[in-house]
Amino acid sequence: MASITIRNLDDEVKELLRRLAAENDRSMEEQARVMIRAAVDGQIGPVGRLDQIEKALHELANSQGTPASALAGKSLPRGTLSNKRILLIIGGGIAAYKALDLIRRLRERGAAVRVVMTSAAREFVTTLSVGALSADHVFTDLFDRNDEHDVGHIRLSREADLLVVAPATADLMAKLANGHANDLASTVLIATDKPVLMAPAMNPKMWSHPATRRNRATLGKDGIAFVGPAKGEMAESNEAGEGRMAEPLEIVAAVEALLDAGPKPLAGRKIIVTSGPTHEPIDPVRYIANRSSGKQGHAIAAALARLGADVRLVTGPVAIADPAGVKTVHVERAQEMRDAVEQLLPADAAVFVAAVADWRTENSAGEKIKKAAGEGPPMLRMVENPDILAGVGHHKQRPGLVVGFAAETQDLLRNAEAKLRKKGADLIVANDVSHTSGIGPSGVMGGDRNRVRIVSKAGVEEWPEMTKDEVAARLAALIAERLKTIIV
Ligand SMILES: Cc1cc2nc3c(=O)[nH]c(=O)nc-3n(C[C@H](O)[C@H](O)[C@H](O)COP(=O)(O)O)c2cc1C
Repeated sequence: MASITIRNLDDEVKELLRRLAAENDRSMEEQARVMIRAAVDGQIGPVGRLDQIEKALHELANSQGTPASALAGKSLPRGTLSNKRILLIIGGGIAAYKALDLIRRLRERGAAVRVVMTSAAREFVTTLSVGALSADHVFTDLFDRNDEHDVGHIRLSREADLLVVAPATADLMAKLANGHANDLASTVLIATDKPVLMAPAMNPKMWSHPATRRNRATLGKDGIAFVGPAKGEMAESNEAGEGRMAEPLEIVAAVEALLDAGPKPLAGRKIIVTSGPTHEPIDPVRYIANRSSGKQGHAIAAALARLGADVRLVTGPVAIADPAGVKTVHVERAQEMRDAVEQLLPADAAVFVAAVADWRTENSAGEKIKKAAGEGPPMLRMVENPDILAGVGHHKQRPGLVVGFAAETQDLLRNAEAKLRKKGADLIVANDVSHTSGIGPSGVMGGDRNRVRIVSKAGVEEWPEMTKDEVAARLAALIAERLKTIIV
């Protein structure tokens, strides 16, 4: 019988084979063998040459009631990463064992995964395991004449849609940050023109070392994306802190986000998000503000957009960029924010993250208030600002789902529960913004981390401390889940 090289099959057949293999929990080679055996056993027409075998594969799919054309479309679930090619670089850390699960998770979603292993990585996991899971040759040596002739380090780095480094060792980060290219992994990383995602994993002392901090910052500026590391128990005993590699599914979610390949449960949904502080003028040069940075609200807008929502962000003055793929309206004052939000109604959901000033000065001065000798400081008379959350929560065009934020420095839960009732919200995301919240040197406001509780009529759900991006992703998923049951 003709021998069959998967790499030489046409793309449609390869895709078909990949799906059937994933369905049956077989490698592609094994699946091909089973199908060819079925063909030889006469379940389908006679086969001989390679092109006939390909035809036979299609026929077999048809004979099982699954036309090949449908396989490319709906009848088999299309993985979120089907047709995506991932080059996974495994570095030499204890977390290398998690890379095995990562390969499986990526392939489950339809991705083709090619792997480069550093020589240190091979001290932790074998090329045999990695090759079996990736169903492909594992690349290890820059100077391997066969590999270089067959694929070559340049093609290896360019044929992928995304490069993932997991675990990203302190060493690999240092090499890329400084432009070193002295083995296959570092050479591929520097030769690529594709996005790179790093999942660092190392001892907390290594992660917090000034050299690693510098390299992380440099790589960030160079456009390298990161997922994790997380805080928690390390694989080594008696070690805890920041440095644990993100879990494989978190890495998969980051891959999907980077390739914009994730599920779109919010497609067709319009969602309003507010973010940032408001500035309430005292005179043309002075204003009353608060410490909100907009990081949490902007992250939520971006996370909702990644799930396919048509997001309208109304933001107060912030120093961060508008999120990609989100229509953003810039305002200054609470009244402007209220007007912008009301103009955007109707919507399927609204998420009020902005730290809107409760009060404004009754009349802001038309000219800069001057210090006049003997007159003392000016008296500022304050009046209440519109309550945007309550206004929309009780609006005749109230969105199906209304989410408010409660930033409190004391009595967090009591205040959040009162807010839920009074303002007509479905969910309140409560966060402790006191200095004693224990989050980061700069606290929740302005910082990158958050610990929230989700307060609803059903009760209170505590979420662990996470990055603001992680809170955003989880909240977006929760909103998608809630909206499933709301028909507008
Ligand atoms: C038992 C053991 C565990 C290690 N774990 C890590 C780790 O988790 N992260 C890391 O950055 N380095 C770790 N190292 C050090 C790396 O293996 C070492 O820096 C190596 O040169 C990295 O090579 P690579 O970046 O080419 O994979 C570990 C070393 C040993 C011996």
